[in-house]
Amino acid sequence: MDMEPKIDIQLTEAEMRAMLCADVRRGLSGPRKWLPSKWFYDARGSKLFDAITELPEYYPTRTERALLHTSAVEIAIAAAGAAELVELGSGSSEKTRLLLSSLSERGSLRSYVPLDVSESALRAAVGWINEEFPQLEIHAMVSDFTNKLDRLPCRGRRIIVLLGGTLGNLTPAERAEFFGRIHEVLHTGEQLLLGVGLVTDPAVMVPAYDDAAGVTAEFNRNILQVVNNRLGADFEPDRFAHVALWDADNEWIEMRLEATVDMTVTVADLDLVIEFAAGEQLRTEISAKFRLTAFYDELAAAGFRVQRSWTDPADRFAVVLAGR
Ligand code: SAH
Ligand code: AVI
Repeated sequence: MDMEPKIDIQLTEAEMRAMLCADVRRGLSGPRKWLPSKWFYDARGSKLFDAITELPEYYPTRTERALLHTSAVEIAIAAAGAAELVELGSGSSEKTRLLLSSLSERGSLRSYVPLDVSESALRAAVGWINEEFPQLEIHAMVSDFTNKLDRLPCRGRRIIVLLGGTLGNLTPAERAEFFGRIHEVLHTGEQLLLGVGLVTDPAVMVPAYDDAAGVTAEFNRNILQVVNNRLGADFEPDRFAHVALWDADNEWIEMRLEATVDMTVTVADLDLVIEFAAGEQLRTEISAKFRLTAFYDELAAAGFRVQRSWTDPADRFAVVLAGR
């Protein structure tokens, strides 16, 4: 078998650009401005996210890592028979190491399919995974998990994994659509493993998105830099203030960028002029937090059977295994 890692570009530069053009037009032309959070992740954004995961305030990554560490064997037993691990939004794949080793030591894992919109993050991950797990076939995909799931490979029983709480970055409607697509794509007996943030004390959640060192603020402003770089816009990111708040009604953290002065921004490649009044906010991300009972109902409504779940001692994060 050829064990050279494969990197499949399913999202070409042209498609990426067309998607960004549509999102910028739709999101920035109307009165309530917003941009989808997937546009944070160019090479700089992916590095900033990795820096966030090391911040003292950002508890999700270390909580999930500890959870995966203590439950890796149980997950491998519950997912015995999985031959292919498909990871959506794999980023650095750093925590996935725990699953790759337990599933290949105790199970029958043969291949790993990391999928991400960030080609730079994928390339960096593929390098070390190939060295650490030479027995695994690696088939990386630069792709978008919100609209290209029908292109996933299937060379044996799969487990689809979405870690880090990334599911919470989808709106409830996008989440329902996502579950529906996964349900269509998976075959009976295949599994889904989700790492999700749980509703906890806002005094813990909000600082995780508004750290003292200002790394999250820089990550947030990077979305404007991406629009500048890709579409020739003239945003001045430093003139936008980082906002992170807990929306108790929707039970999500919302990140926004607030114009600190009146501004006129031009997006040259779109012939688009956008006015910002001082104090006006642009929504850049939601990060939904979940309650387990309601989350299980959501999975059941999409046709999944919850098989097992693991939570940390402080009930801030959960890893949920469900079967199709
Ligand atoms: N799973 C990793 C990374 C989380 S950061 C962890 O738990 O630490 C979120 C990752 O999802 C980023 O690498 C980003 O590039 C990717 N991502 C966000 N939206 C995406 C989309 N629509 N399709 C594919 N990847 C996406
Ligand atoms: C990737 N995603 C789950 C992160 C989150 O916590 O919602 C992105 C992030 N945004 C700000 N900090 C981290």
